[in-house]
Amino acid sequence: MEILRTITEVREYVVGQRARGARIGLVPTMGYFHAGHLELMRRAGGAGYTVVVSIFVNPTQFGPGEDYERYPRDLARDAQMAQTAGADVLFVPEAAEMYPSGYGTYVQVEGVSEGLCGAARPGHFRGVATVVCKLFNIVQPEAAFFGQKDYQQVMVIKRMAADLNLPVAITVVPTVREADGLAMSSRNTYLSPEERRQALALYQALRLGERLIKSGERRAAAVETALREGLQKPGVRLDYAEVRRAGDLARVEVIEDDAVLLVAAWVGQTRLIDNLVVGV
Ligand code: PAF
Repeated sequence: MEILRTITEVREYVVGQRARGARIGLVPTMGYFHAGHLELMRRAGGAGYTVVVSIFVNPTQFGPGEDYERYPRDLARDAQMAQTAGADVLFVPEAAEMYPSGYGTYVQVEGVSEGLCGAARPGHFRGVATVVCKLFNIVQPEAAFFGQKDYQQVMVIKRMAADLNLPVAITVVPTVREADGLAMSSRNTYLSPEERRQALALYQALRLGERLIKSGERRAAAVETALREGLQKPGVRLDYAEVRRAGDLARVEVIEDDAVLLVAAWVGQTRLIDNLVVGV
């Protein structure tokens, strides 16, 4: 597995692969891998793609006071894990490679970027859409792989790819969870042992909401109340708990189509998100 640092190097690599008839699968990440990332790589490799994994802690998607500086980074560990998961190349650019001096172009996706994490983290999805659009242009993959855990992010990227006619198939891979249900996240490493126990409230609240819908509840407000109650646990501070239509994140009063339950909460100093799609 090669580690490439510059856009020129990765472009040359991709051109060489294509000349040999390869199709490229991109797995965009911010590194500090967990089983969820490795699953994305395995899915890309399993589908026959040459697997390009980007590792870039993207400064434009972090707001002031967020965890950009302390976001966990460990390239040696990541490289070993990616190789085991079948990645063919790691693209690890510096910030100045992606955003050279004078940089001034950003991608703003309207609609699906608003509300939920978009309300709590102004500018976040503008940064995500911008860097993912740049990665698509740099790597020009046939397919790109994202985790369902970042549900709104996936909707933003799908909208962007459709609106800007980007010729890339977006594959969404189900959330990988710890044995007790906690969604895998690089940010879980911030949690103390006590916070780790408290963090389980997110998944438990989602399961509560799911049970309600499965038992026939169709009023979104009633399900949202149950989600909020499920998150009223020691050490947990609610950010949002909402029911949206799974297909387009539209707000609903009555659940008539597949729904997605989305929660975000602070556990100590760590903001965690999770979601569950419930078929009706
Ligand atoms: O999900 C992430 O890790 C990031 O938001 C992404 C998609 C790599 C863009 O920086």
